[in-house]
Amino acid sequence: MSNGGPDTLITEEEIHKRVTDFAEQISRDYAGEGEIVLIGILKGAFILLADLSRRLTVSHRVEFMAVSSYGQSSVSTGAVRLIMDLRGDIENKHVLIVEDIVDTGHTLHYLVSLLKTRRPASLRTCALVRKSDRAEVDVEIDYLGFDIPDVWVVGYGLDYAEQYRTLPYIGVLPPETTPSSET
Ligand code: IMP
Ligand code: MG
Repeated sequence: MSNGGPDTLITEEEIHKRVTDFAEQISRDYAGEGEIVLIGILKGAFILLADLSRRLTVSHRVEFMAVSSYGQSSVSTGAVRLIMDLRGDIENKHVLIVEDIVDTGHTLHYLVSLLKTRRPASLRTCALVRKSDRAEVDVEIDYLGFDIPDVWVVGYGLDYAEQYRTLPYIGVLPPETTPSSET
């Protein structure tokens, strides 16, 4: 039944189960390795980061970076701009990038290339969703939640023009409001 909001693609329960699985897997993988630096990519990853970090059983701290998004449109130009950098050093630290969604892959690819130059002890990536058909650059996702088709999704941190971020589930916008992917 429709609730008037975006149609459900991934339910709240499915998300929570997956995030719990991630947290267990990450806690296992990093056990005995020392502190992890979780880097949440603003704004979309703030809800995933909050839920994930609270389920980890290994020592970690939370940092943020912000990169340019598509603004009010949904068209990727491939150009990524750093809006806010880390405050501290990551040299010799175990770093895990936490992203909301990987679409063309340009954003994550940019972040991985940038952070690698700072000589972390290790660098891994986590993303809740990926639109695999849209990949333009190859980028490894160590912890992936869901592969989804090429639709515009909102909720659980994801927005369309800054709306819908706090929906508890991941939904697809009704066709009349779906952003065009034409340039
Ligand atoms: P990429 O650089 O093309 O991989 O784009 C990644 C960024 O685009 C994400 O971090 C999101 O901010 C945004 N994005 C891509 N697809 C969606 C979507 O379906 N809903 C909301 N944001 C999206
Ligand atoms: Mg984002």
